[in-house]
Amino acid sequence: MRKGILSLTTAAAVMTLGLTACGGDGATTAAPSDAASSGSASAPAAVAGKVGVILPDSKSSARWETADRKYLEEAFKAAGVAYDIQNAQGDKTQFQTIADQMITNGATVLMIVNLDSGTGKAVLDKAKAQGVATIDYDRLTLNGGASYYVSFDNTKVGTLQGEGLVKCLTDKKADKPIIAELNGSPTDNNATLFKNGYDGVLKPKYDSKEYVAGPDQSVPDWDNAQAGTIFEQMLTEQPKIAGVLAANDGLGNAAIAVLKKNSLNGKVPVTGQDATVQGLQNILAGDQCMTVYKAIKKEADAASALAIGLAKGEKPTAPATVKDTESGADVPAVLLDPQPIFFDSVKDVVADGFVTKDELCTGEFAAKCTEAGIQ
Ligand code: BGC
Repeated sequence: MRKGILSLTTAAAVMTLGLTACGGDGATTAAPSDAASSGSASAPAAVAGKVGVILPDSKSSARWETADRKYLEEAFKAAGVAYDIQNAQGDKTQFQTIADQMITNGATVLMIVNLDSGTGKAVLDKAKAQGVATIDYDRLTLNGGASYYVSFDNTKVGTLQGEGLVKCLTDKKADKPIIAELNGSPTDNNATLFKNGYDGVLKPKYDSKEYVAGPDQSVPDWDNAQAGTIFEQMLTEQPKIAGVLAANDGLGNAAIAVLKKNSLNGKVPVTGQDATVQGLQNILAGDQCMTVYKAIKKEADAASALAIGLAKGEKPTAPATVKDTESGADVPAVLLDPQPIFFDSVKDVVADGFVTKDELCTGEFAAKCTEAGIQ
């Protein structure tokens, strides 16, 4: 399973792996944190390999801890494969430490959501040097050379956001609206793809003078608090902002909070992404125009299927490839289809089981849920 010359460290890692393989008890890593979880300790693992997953943080979006972790865990448990899922909590040094520990503790497959391509690549390089198979989960590590990439069509996510904003502005009969763009982290390749997507829709409208290009800024690390400060400045400098392209629900919520303070919520359409409970509630309240639902269960299922195959020593095939724009390599990929969600389609997200009526339709939202046909 491992190639290359064995150093003392790798020999130790192989021994750990051997123990995991024989005992099949899915040993935990040396640095458990609050957000860490390891599996297959009770049920004997049917698979020799072990999968390590590093999630990026728990602040840039609710999805990582509420959806991705849950669905990945379910898939690994069902397959009887040993796993260790940890969250780097936005700390790039910690990200690398976790990866080192996972490899030392016998991971044969490493799945990462990078915090930036530079540190992501360092982790992937180390893993590969030790014969550990690699998967980029959700975010492509540029020049990273991961064996697989599993995500959504992220340019399409952006296109849906741009089209969604246009629909909401048209519904409001907006005249030459000034648009603010609140982009995702400049170090996240997805944020670049989202922007390519929505600018593909908005730029022609700026060019034809139908819309006016207003402030346009990236939010470092998708930091929601910083997004609030940035949007507050945008609105101070340009009080006539009439539409906000926010790259995810967290950034959208930050903009909505500022709009609320200025009694502009509901008047200025705001976009989002991730179909978080907060984002969906903002849509029900009329403060957010739309979100993009990405069926994360499908993403987690596709990625875990690859990881489980790799853990069994197979060479799974992927249905597509994506171009790594930095290295020029074609990375075997699974790219899923995102779906736009407006007031009337919030019910589709509930019907898909991604959020429950109980979490969504609390207090003031109960009546809105009925209005939106949520059963
Ligand atoms: C993901 C989004 C998420 C954002 C912030 C992106 O890479 O695709 O779903 O909202 O990161 O975590």
